[in-house]
Formats: sequence, structure tokens, C-alpha cells
Amino acid sequence: MPPTPILALAGFMGSGKTTVGTLLARQLAWRFVDLDARIEETAGLRIPEIFERLGEPAFRQMEADQLRAALGRAQELKESVILALGGGTYAQPGAPEFLRNAGIPVIWLDASPEILLGRCMTMTGRPLFRDEPSFRALYAQRLPSYQLADHRVDSSGEPARVVAEILTRHLVPAGNAILLNGASRST
Ligand code: S3P
Repeated sequence: MPPTPILALAGFMGSGKTTVGTLLARQLAWRFVDLDARIEETAGLRIPEIFERLGEPAFRQMEADQLRAALGRAQELKESVILALGGGTYAQPGAPEFLRNAGIPVIWLDASPEILLGRCMTMTGRPLFRDEPSFRALYAQRLPSYQLADHRVDSSGEPARVVAEILTRHLVPAGNAILLNGASRST
């Protein structure tokens, strides 16, 4: 895989994409882009409102559009970017192939459904977090997609440790870009 100035973080709700991504970007002195935040800014609505008023298919369309826009902007400006995907982005049909073809490495932040559930219970603003059975079912349904990521990192621990693991075990600096360490798949 050639050096790339963009690294995407995938993972289920509560996996720490935003927290880990913010810290990682700070350490690398890269820009942090949060796909959910981009969608909210562009739509002028919070995510629960988008789901409520426009429905999930409209949200998925915005998500796909903003993903393309974020990659395009980073490439155009030659900016080095850590891109936090939404929890469902990488599980949408064609998303892993799209990112692979664009040459964007993806790290899957993985944690057990129990840990993810514990984190999401205390937070609001997630329209797809309804109850434990549906949360677990969605996790199981999406797992095969996350397993397509280039690397898997255990994200059950403290965010700072997750970042340290990514920096020491998974990334090799290459100027203002990074290489993923080895060509290993997450499975
Ligand atoms: C979603 C996860 C959310 C957000 C939206 C849909 C999902 O992102 O994109 O609510 O489909 O799992 P987080 O994983 O950042 O909560």
C-alpha cells in the first residue's frame, strides 16, 4: 500500500472513533475530521433529527456524500487527515471496496458488545441505539464488514493506550503520510 495522508477509523457505536481519532490526530499533528460532525454541519441538523425527519436512507446518502467530500478535500488540499467514520459507514454496501480503491487504510477499533453497550448506555444522540437485543443484533450483522478493515485494534482500554498501540504497532511514519505496518488484514 503506498503512503497515504488519510487514515480512516471504523468501528461500532461506542468504539471510540472520535476520542481516539482526536488524540491520534493531535499526536501526529494531522487534521481530525469527524464524518458525523460533517454531516450535521452540512445538514444543519443533529443526527437524531436527520433520522427522525428524513429517515435513515437519507442519512446514509448524506454519509456517502460527506465521505466522498472529505476524501476529495483532503486530497485536494494535500492535508494529512485522521477520518473518524460513523458507526455504520464501513458496514454500508460497497464502503470497504470504495475506501480500498481510494487507497485509504482503515483501522477497526474493536471492543466486545458488552463494553460498547456499557459506553452507549450513558450517552444520548444515537438513533440506532434502542435496546440491548437490537444493539447486539446490529453488531453481529456488521461484524463481517468491520473484519474487512486493514488493521484491527483492541479499543476496550483507555483511549490514550489505544492511540499508543496504533502508533507503535500499526503505523510507520513516511513524511507527512503514514504506512500501515505490514499488509496484514484484520481477520
Ligand atoms: C450510526 C452511528 C453513529 C452515527 C449514526 C448512525 C450507526 O456514529 O453515524 O447515529 O449506524 O451505527 P457513532 O458510531 O459515532 O455513534
